[in-house]
Amino acid sequence: MNDFSNDLKYILQVAINSSKAAGDFVLKNMQKATKIDFKGRVNMVTGVDKGSQEIIVSEILKEFPGAGILAEESGESNVESDFKWIIDPLDGTTNFVHGFPCFAVSIAVEINGRIKVAVVHDPYHQETFYAIEGGGAYLNGSKIRVSQVNRLINSLLATGFPYELNEYFYKNMEIFKALYQKCQGIRRAGAATIDMCYVACGRFDGYWEFYLNPWDVAAGYLIVKEAGGKLSNASGREFSIYGHEYVATNGLIHDEILSVIKNFV
Ligand code: IPD
Ligand code: CA
Ligand code: CA
Repeated sequence: MNDFSNDLKYILQVAINSSKAAGDFVLKNMQKATKIDFKGRVNMVTGVDKGSQEIIVSEILKEFPGAGILAEESGESNVESDFKWIIDPLDGTTNFVHGFPCFAVSIAVEINGRIKVAVVHDPYHQETFYAIEGGGAYLNGSKIRVSQVNRLINSLLATGFPYELNEYFYKNMEIFKALYQKCQGIRRAGAATIDMCYVACGRFDGYWEFYLNPWDVAAGYLIVKEAGGKLSNASGREFSIYGHEYVATNGLIHDEILSVIKNFV
């Protein structure tokens, strides 16, 4: 850990506390009538997404007035700050609306351009994944590691599809077909943050997706990295939360999965 370690631990505690407060609110409102708006044909936003975000942002600003915020339901504020809190107040909204228990609250803290702290809290299963840069990754206080599966044919993979039927959707359908024949199974559970945390703790061996937003992948990125995993874009170049291509694996199957994905990008 670096010199900042105490500060980072404090930031982590604030992130965990606010993700749990928001998660309690999300859970309390599960399967209750809630106002649903549409950001696209199937891209829903509920009052719960907005309420969860209000809880998180107010907790953060109470502790760190003037902090930079990049949050799904309100965009960016205080952009001049060196600290940027990147927030998905409810990842897996479609699941949430249908009562399918796979959704999470995700918070990452970027300091001078690097993700230093990350939390993904799944309120339904009471699982809190978190990491500090250089300090390993944890699930409910226990250290987690990626899996040891070293061949694609023995792997369980995860992916997701964008809401819009754009070029990435069609590309990913082709990749899905190609990879399906080369692994043990592919899951599309509907919450990118959870997919990535499941790679981090070894439930999945690999994950890929296209065309997400920084709040979908920022926390998952650090948690996978700190759990010993590998991340890149679809061509094997550096992973960016601001890019459009995301591959995260246990490291052991990374080259093999890329050798398939590369044919389609
Ligand atoms: C979505 C989920 C899903 C992914 C979508 C995301 P949201 O986030 O992470 O797994 O495939 O493209 O937008 O809208 O539920 O926060
Ligand atoms: Ca999301
Ligand atoms: Ca969301």
